[in-house]
Amino acid sequence: MKPKVYITRKLPEQIVNDLRQKLDISMWEDEAIPVPREVLEKEIEEVDGLFCMLTEQIDESLIEKATNLKIIANMAVGYNNIDLQSATDKGIMVTNTPGVLTETTADLTFGLLLATARRLIEATDYLKNGQWKSWSPMQLTGQDVHDATLGIIGLGRIGKALAKRAKGFDMNLLYYNRSRKYDEEKELGIEFVSLEELLKKSDFVCVMVPLTSQTSYMIGAEQLALMKETSVLINTARGDIVDEHALYQALVNHEIWAAGLDVFEDEPVPLDHPLLTLPNVVTLPHIGSASIATRMKMASLAADNLLAGLTGDTPGNLVNPEILTMLKGNG
Ligand code: NAP
Ligand code: GLV
Ligand code: GLV
Repeated sequence: MKPKVYITRKLPEQIVNDLRQKLDISMWEDEAIPVPREVLEKEIEEVDGLFCMLTEQIDESLIEKATNLKIIANMAVGYNNIDLQSATDKGIMVTNTPGVLTETTADLTFGLLLATARRLIEATDYLKNGQWKSWSPMQLTGQDVHDATLGIIGLGRIGKALAKRAKGFDMNLLYYNRSRKYDEEKELGIEFVSLEELLKKSDFVCVMVPLTSQTSYMIGAEQLALMKETSVLINTARGDIVDEHALYQALVNHEIWAAGLDVFEDEPVPLDHPLLTLPNVVTLPHIGSASIATRMKMASLAADNLLAGLTGDTPGNLVNPEILTMLKGNG
């Protein structure tokens, strides 16, 4: 009998067809609406594998319902939507999709930085709303990106790819990370500083850490107060890393100059959210990795992980590798 799998969102046909050769697949067919919790609760009871998105909260109470589940394959590099400890405790493998989205997400992050600094969205609206009556000296003026100081919080795969792009703009590079990255320091001429120093010295601050209990609200009122009045905050990591209420206050009180956000504490961000009322906040609907090629690669990598986990191989992107000794011990 083929292992049973549930896929929580409609995937490209080619990927599903390949999986069908070896797996018994059911899938949530709606592209616009996430799978309802009741459906997921029912499906997880019996399946051997779950292919899920970052929109699904795979929490303890859901994991408890699983009786046969061997692997949760997340189609994202971030896996803060999965209760890793509960999965590990139940002997369930968890995988993510690192690497394949690094360059695409760095492109978007640098694009958001440029758009926020140079007010591209505001300027487009200005033109389309018929406000462009003539050219004038200080009209829609922003902040220069070239020669400015970029502070990267979290110099991992995407942080490093972002630094490479910034070098092309002759930016001065600073980073803060929980571990020192000596190779990157040499290769990119990027300087390691404390978080406090980074916030004080940077013209642009980019958040690139994963969301964990240590990074939740890492940027709050106290941190924003350290930033320059002319500085720009960019967050393409996870919404909960920045205290949105504190960010709104910092923008309204002119403690910082602007923000570019691809991620929010609640997604989709409610349309009455105060941050959406500010012209100096550029907002995107979590599209960091959204290129056609990269989304295909992510789906394909998550499918490879799932298949490996269900056919006795070690998935390439296991985030709880300690499970292998547990599983061996049991088998
Ligand atoms: P990564 O390679 O694991 O990089 C994360 C970096 O953060 C590592 O250098 C890590 O340090 C550092 N870090 C972790 N916890 C920290 C802490 N408490 N304090 C300081 N530094 C800490 O991950 P990645 O592939 O670059 O992805 C980063 C995140 O971007 C993902 O987790 C995801 O949430 C987000 N993301 C968003 C989008 C989007 O669509 N907007 C797309 C892709 C990814 P160590 O080296 O010491 O572990
Ligand atoms: C997207 O946000 C990801 O973590 O892959
Ligand atoms: C602007 O368009 C200029 O020519 O300076």
